[in-house]
Amino acid sequence: MIRPDIIRDILETARIEEVVGDFVSLRKRGANLVGLCPFHNEKTPSFNVSPARGIYKCFGCGKAGSAVNFVMEHEHYSYPDALRYLARKYNIRIEEKEQTAEELQALNEQESLYHVNTFAQKFFSELMFQTEEGRALGLKYFSERGFREDTVKKFELGYSPEKQDHFTRYALDNGYNLDYLLKTGLTIRSEEGRLYDRFRSRVIFPIHNLTGRVIGFGGRIRTSAENKPKYINSPESDIYNKSKVLYGIFFAKNAIIRQDNCYLVEGYTDVISLHQAGIENVVSSSGTSLTTDQIKLIKRFTRNITILYDGDPAGIKASFRGIDMILEEGMNVKIVLFPENEDPDSYVRKHRTSEVEALLHSGANDFIVFKTNLLLREAAGDPIKRASLIKEIVQSIALIPDAIFRTVYVKECASVMNMPEQTLMNELNKILRQNFNKKMETYRPQIYPDEQVYPAEKQITEDPNLCEYQEKDIIRIMLLYGEQTIPANGNDSMDVISVAGFIVHDLSIDDLTFQNPYYQFIFDDFQKEMEKGRIPSEKDYVNHADPSVAQLAIDLVSTPYELSDGWSKNLILVKVETEILKEAVLSAVLAFKAKKVDQMIIRNQQDLKAAADEEEIMALLTEQMKLKGISREINARLGRIVTK
Ligand code: CTP
Ligand code: MN
Repeated sequence: MIRPDIIRDILETARIEEVVGDFVSLRKRGANLVGLCPFHNEKTPSFNVSPARGIYKCFGCGKAGSAVNFVMEHEHYSYPDALRYLARKYNIRIEEKEQTAEELQALNEQESLYHVNTFAQKFFSELMFQTEEGRALGLKYFSERGFREDTVKKFELGYSPEKQDHFTRYALDNGYNLDYLLKTGLTIRSEEGRLYDRFRSRVIFPIHNLTGRVIGFGGRIRTSAENKPKYINSPESDIYNKSKVLYGIFFAKNAIIRQDNCYLVEGYTDVISLHQAGIENVVSSSGTSLTTDQIKLIKRFTRNITILYDGDPAGIKASFRGIDMILEEGMNVKIVLFPENEDPDSYVRKHRTSEVEALLHSGANDFIVFKTNLLLREAAGDPIKRASLIKEIVQSIALIPDAIFRTVYVKECASVMNMPEQTLMNELNKILRQNFNKKMETYRPQIYPDEQVYPAEKQITEDPNLCEYQEKDIIRIMLLYGEQTIPANGNDSMDVISVAGFIVHDLSIDDLTFQNPYYQFIFDDFQKEMEKGRIPSEKDYVNHADPSVAQLAIDLVSTPYELSDGWSKNLILVKVETEILKEAVLSAVLAFKAKKVDQMIIRNQQDLKAAADEEEIMALLTEQMKLKGISREINARLGRIVTK
């Protein structure tokens, strides 16, 4: 744990231009610096660094962030690791929070578990290469499967001998603690207290974590006849969390980055065979269904996943839910279907590499189109099934965070299904609205994915129930100009008030809240800090520990201002005249209020439609007249400002 005050110190010390400058050559252009974007290929520089803001933004690929984000993105570091990197760069001493005896014990225990596993891996490998039994039963098995010796060595494969407790004895003799042997699951103790090797008489597949340390094992029987499970695996332990690792990730990660794609297969042997054929960007879920953590692990390296399937349609359908989770992460999913009774491993063995590559490339179908086709075949000639099919497809499309992609899919699926785009679009909008409402009910900042989860802005502004645009405008002004001052009332007064102070005061009088929970979060935070006598600045949020808040703030302050172009550009560079700023603030606040009143009017009209008795109707009508009056007044004031 890095102490919060040290985190602040790091964030304040790190200069974006110096941090980026270590990786990108930057030239000065005006107040900013530009260079070639390290995140996509380009010939003319569109990667901008703003020292004043402490952020970077690429106008080519859209990547944007703070110094910490840059290190995370560029070096594939976690947030704490990026902080440690920056601390080293700026000679800031991180005294990680003093560890309690228990934490130290736990740390040592984890370290010990790694050591036992490494020891076991070496034992299994050496035994396979150096003993009669190992060569005859282990190495022979792998070579009969077509694994070359360099492949066997690379994946650190091994063999565990037949004798009941061969490994356990050897480990104990070498001073390893029985406790750790049991915790890693390498040793099993029977009820009578007898010790067994878990993997006896099996070939061994060590499972490595991201940094290449052995965290567990899979053991396969060598013959098919035995009435035993084909694979047994290490149990979960402090260092082995099945839902968080993917088999092969350590060997695949560089190739995944290079190819900007990750192949996902089912088995250990599929990973190894593809690797041996030169296709190294491949990982395996080891026969279980994919978890969000595993998807996020892949997402650190690429946004593209290609799933290699060897199942029948029923099995494939069962995995659709898992694939929806990938879409939800904003990733692109493709599917490659293997011929019946072939898995990637057996296919690779029977075909030339060029044929394998051809299948992986030309046989890849976009998931949504694939799903549409599959369901369509099932629904052939059954109109009721067909109707529910639309819902099912659109549900998947609705998970995609990016509005442009959603639209593309609507078009494509409409054409595959041979139905009007508008039908799908209507269904999509309905689901988006439902999802949006659900999301707001269960709001917690930490769960905000690092990408835009909201329906496209356009849809929101068209939807009278939402006022994303107006809310965003207010928050953007608070972030950018919150600390600047404007005249408090009228032009004559010498009194000034901060922009943030004005907005917070004005919105709280009317008890107005934000629909978008993240804007509400920032607004509340402003209010809280200002009660303590301090006005937050954009830097507080751009560097926020919650990456979702940080991303939101970065997007807000780095998107060129669209509302009233006239004054925006000046505002960014020079301190503007307070009068202009005041008008901008007022118009944003009024636009927000106008929208809120409009919403109340719409709700009132809906209530009117549903109202039954006369008294209720009269009350609602009175309310409506009042609201319309307020609306007129706000819009008149707004008009005066905007047209002045
Ligand atoms: N698996 C498992 N336990 C089993 C069966 C399978 O843990 N009893 C996992 C293994 O990780 C295995 C994966 O599920 O690699 C896929 O299973 P399967 O396709 O049956 O095995 P293959 O990897 O194809 O192994 P092989 O080619 O040796 O049959
Ligand atoms: Mn297989």
